[in-house]
Amino acid sequence: MNRLSDKIIVALDVPTLKETEKLLQKLQGVVSYYKVGFELFTAHGWKAVELVKKYNAKVFLDLKLHDIPNTAARTAKVICEHEVDMFNVHALGGGDMMKAVRKSVDEYSGKKPVVIAVTLLTSHDEKTVKTEIGIQNEVLDAVIALAKLTQESGLAGVVCSPEEISAIRKSLGQDFILVTPGIRPQGSQKGDQKRTLTPQEALKAGSSYLVIGRPITAAPSPKEAALSILSSLRN
Ligand code: C5P
Repeated sequence: MNRLSDKIIVALDVPTLKETEKLLQKLQGVVSYYKVGFELFTAHGWKAVELVKKYNAKVFLDLKLHDIPNTAARTAKVICEHEVDMFNVHALGGGDMMKAVRKSVDEYSGKKPVVIAVTLLTSHDEKTVKTEIGIQNEVLDAVIALAKLTQESGLAGVVCSPEEISAIRKSLGQDFILVTPGIRPQGSQKGDQKRTLTPQEALKAGSSYLVIGRPITAAPSPKEAALSILSSLRN
């Protein structure tokens, strides 16, 4: 497996283990990292994670923990026990929650997952951030402040929109992990994603991992789609 393929995380947004396994079979040898999110996890729990690991692939568990520090820390310990490679929390849970999660992972004696945070959901815009959440800053300033809080709390990086990559990189440095959904190869359907970058543009801007769902999973040949994305990254 070369280094570029390690940068692609395929979002397993499917409802059944059968469909998950079909995708894992089709992408075997091409993709080595998968995102298990709410849909699959609430339907099948740890079985979904174990299935991905059966194919010797890594798991990013996208459950966006957001709770009081004690509950989030105890949940983080359970996640550690299932040996996922990466999981996330909401930075809006606050510095105390993120530090408690960090401590819980540090105290775990086995393999430690990478922990990252979601700053503001990209489904929010300027208006909803102000009127619904009550944050008066510009969205990008709020995102950078939450990314800084994430770093100060000892977590490794954030999930962010491709448009935010450059600004966050500039403020948070080269070692901070940036995981970016909203990736669309040239000419592919945008679906409900509004602001997208191509895989090549996102990597060039400084993304650490590209989360790609439908452009691969809904393609007539997921393997061909993944290979074509990988080849675009080499150019
Ligand atoms: O199919 P698509 O490539 O749009 O999938 C992107 C994945 O990333 C989905 O699992 C979606 O839930 C997730 N995601 C996102 N935007 C965010 C956070 C997560 O699209 N801000």
